[in-house]
Amino acid sequence: MTLPESRFHGECLVDFPFDRPDGPVRGRLALVHKGAFDFIERNRATYLFASEEEALSSLKIERRRRTYLMGRYALKRAASDWTGLPPGRLETVAAILEYPILKAPVADVPDLTLTHTDGAAICLAVEAGHATGIDLEPINPARLATYDRVTTPRERDASRNLALDAPSAAVLYWSLREALSKAVRCGFTVPFEVLELEALHEHGDGLFRATFRNFGQYAGHAWIRDGHVFAVVHPKKSVPQPGPEFWKILRATGCFPKETDMLESPAR
Ligand SMILES: CC(C)(COP(=O)(O)OP(=O)(O)OC[C@H]1O[C@@H](n2cnc3c(N)ncnc32)[C@H](O)[C@@H]1OP(=O)(O)O)[C@@H](O)C(=O)NCCC(=O)NCCS
Repeated sequence: MTLPESRFHGECLVDFPFDRPDGPVRGRLALVHKGAFDFIERNRATYLFASEEEALSSLKIERRRRTYLMGRYALKRAASDWTGLPPGRLETVAAILEYPILKAPVADVPDLTLTHTDGAAICLAVEAGHATGIDLEPINPARLATYDRVTTPRERDASRNLALDAPSAAVLYWSLREALSKAVRCGFTVPFEVLELEALHEHGDGLFRATFRNFGQYAGHAWIRDGHVFAVVHPKKSVPQPGPEFWKILRATGCFPKETDMLESPAR
């Protein structure tokens, strides 16, 4: 099955590789933003499997239906780009712990990690076994109390050394924890202290690097851009190497809906 052509797809695909001492690790990131929602909903029969349609119809809350559909579409776009197969041949199933698994009739099946907000869904496809989690979070000062509730006293002390306002610092911690919870696949089912950060350092231009108290084998990178935090947590010796296109994507996510940023999406 192929998707019908349309001038505006509201999506981008960019490389998001990692450097490692033993060689590079491939990564490919798909971003879909809410301007594409009508297209995504109208054409869902071309990329959803029956199991996914069933999961969709079990969702009663409209907001969740939208994030689910945008998420499926982002997963399919990243997976299709990786495998060379059309989205309609790629089934994504929720594992017992609810992380997405790709079923594809190819040898090179990537791991997928997904995040969505009201405005966008982002999927990162990485080489299988490179345990990675991502999170995109708007910085919403009205939710400061929620973010603070899950920050430990040690983290709150450390955050005072960052040249950031309180909501930005709190979302940075939250988002890195959430990305860690996806990399290790437990989600927020464990006490928040388990996901505590060990250290968080700024590396200039809104980039931060984190290590974790209980997960010494992982590290995280997070960027603050246009009122959002985007975090990626990965094996400690890996360093993400997003190219210049990545920044364009993040800018787009901060300016919903900014369709002009997305008009030149790659042809299917
Ligand atoms: C992982 C978790 C913290 C993400 O929170 P969220 O507010 O939904 O945040 P995001 O939009 O950034 O991420 C959602 C995606 O994370 C992925 N995800 C869910 N559980 C995951 C896990 N255990 N490990 C890795 N990824 C996971 C899913 O792909 C999900 O999107 P989908 O449901 O549309 O497929 C949260 O879903 C969680 O704690 N899940 C654990 C399982 C659980 O508690 N389930 C009960 C739900 S009522």
